[in-house]
Amino acid sequence: MSNNEKGANPAHFVIFGATGNLATIKLLPSLYNLEAAGRIPAGMRILALGRQEHTHEGWLEHLSKVLHDKFGDKVNRDVANTFAERFTYMAGDLRTPEFYPILKEAVSKPSSSGADTVVFYLSIGPGDFNTVINNLDEVGFSQPRGKHRIVVEKPFGTDLETAQQLNRSLHKHFDEQQIYRIDHYLGKETVQNLLVFRFANTMIEPLWNRNYINHVQITVAEDLGIGTRADYYDKSGAMRDMLQNHLMQLLTVVAMEPPSSLEADAVRDEKVKVLKSMRPIPKSSVNAHAFRAQYAAGTIKGQPVVGYQDEVGVEKNTVTETFVAAKFYIDNWRWRGVPFYLRTGKRLAKTQSHIAIRLRHPPQHLFQNTPLDQIEPNWITLELQPSDFMQMELQVKTPGLGMGTRQAKLNAPYRLGNEAPMESYEALILDVIQGDKTLFIRFDEVEWAWRVVDPIIKTWSQEREFIHTYPAGSWGADESSRLFDCEDQEWRNEI
Ligand code: BG6
Repeated sequence: MSNNEKGANPAHFVIFGATGNLATIKLLPSLYNLEAAGRIPAGMRILALGRQEHTHEGWLEHLSKVLHDKFGDKVNRDVANTFAERFTYMAGDLRTPEFYPILKEAVSKPSSSGADTVVFYLSIGPGDFNTVINNLDEVGFSQPRGKHRIVVEKPFGTDLETAQQLNRSLHKHFDEQQIYRIDHYLGKETVQNLLVFRFANTMIEPLWNRNYINHVQITVAEDLGIGTRADYYDKSGAMRDMLQNHLMQLLTVVAMEPPSSLEADAVRDEKVKVLKSMRPIPKSSVNAHAFRAQYAAGTIKGQPVVGYQDEVGVEKNTVTETFVAAKFYIDNWRWRGVPFYLRTGKRLAKTQSHIAIRLRHPPQHLFQNTPLDQIEPNWITLELQPSDFMQMELQVKTPGLGMGTRQAKLNAPYRLGNEAPMESYEALILDVIQGDKTLFIRFDEVEWAWRVVDPIIKTWSQEREFIHTYPAGSWGADESSRLFDCEDQEWRNEI
């Protein structure tokens, strides 16, 4: 994707929720990596806001532990020192208005470079977005309009209506060009590579449609549980936490038409067209299109782990889903009749994300010694993590006298041995610092994605008596196979 609109470097990067899970595992390590790469503007200060009481030294110790937990001995002491010097920690409750004049005071000095733009990164629960936005306005951060940047983490709202409210509330105080709706999956290299794979190779595009493709599967599996995030997760569930945003973004990039250019809006226009073409799911057939389940106790990497109901902070008898699978159709010329199966879950057998595309069987059964039901169909698979590669599975002749076939895999890793993988947040945070919105989400994408999943969420919110379970460490509940249209379709767990 291209970038043609860059803004002024910020003087201050303010992290709301600096001691929270996201900041700890993603934001602070990514900022450190940007420091190591020399990409943080000279003079940019980082203001870490959190509820925990820390002295300045206490915060620095915490920061050092965060980096050590992430990078171990690879932390470079000089880089870590320069990085630490940028920080000021402020303890406070973001729900109290008294906190904001103090914040204003803290960021009122322009940086040594003369910059005075402030980035506000809302790494907090969606329930607090409105409070922060209103309080920032109260102390005058929205004036002059167009100056500061605000980064809003997903989920953007909890359904269509709340997303629209949040958007209205943001627009009351900020212009669209100041609002960065983040979905870190768009910073993943494989996702960007999917555009290259599809549109820079003439051999792929002719196959990429209902004439050749039987179905598409998108899997984002995690072996982690909910950790310390019960407060957020139990109100959210896998549908809101992952499927409405990350998986839906993957789906749009797989399914979109070639954009007229790689300008941000040209790409977003095509993605929105996909979402608008998705067949609405009537309430009466939610169960045929969506499946939810919750992890029970089990074993992960040889260690016993508790079930979701026994995680600290989770409400008793909750029916919040930690696994969701759904089937969607895109009713346009390219995809009509091709099911897209999406699934994601916590405490699954391993952490692995992939897109698996199954092609149709050839129309003629030519190979005598290989009954048709033994001939594997062709697959194109793209792994997003743990590694990132693209693979094609083809049939070749089994060596020897008979005329049999077997499967061969053509594997294309994206990365050469010496090319280090990058954390998706690095690219996105750098974009925020530089004022480049190309990889951020436009509101109509959010809105249409909610329209697609809202009937499911609404139905589930009324069905609160029962939820399927799966043992931690498995691939989810077997019952999710009921979504498949045909008997010969099944989940691809390994690629
Ligand atoms: C976040 C979700 O957006 O994405 C988490 O809130 C999830 O629940 C995470 O663990 C997964 O991201 P990644 O990059 O590790 O696949």
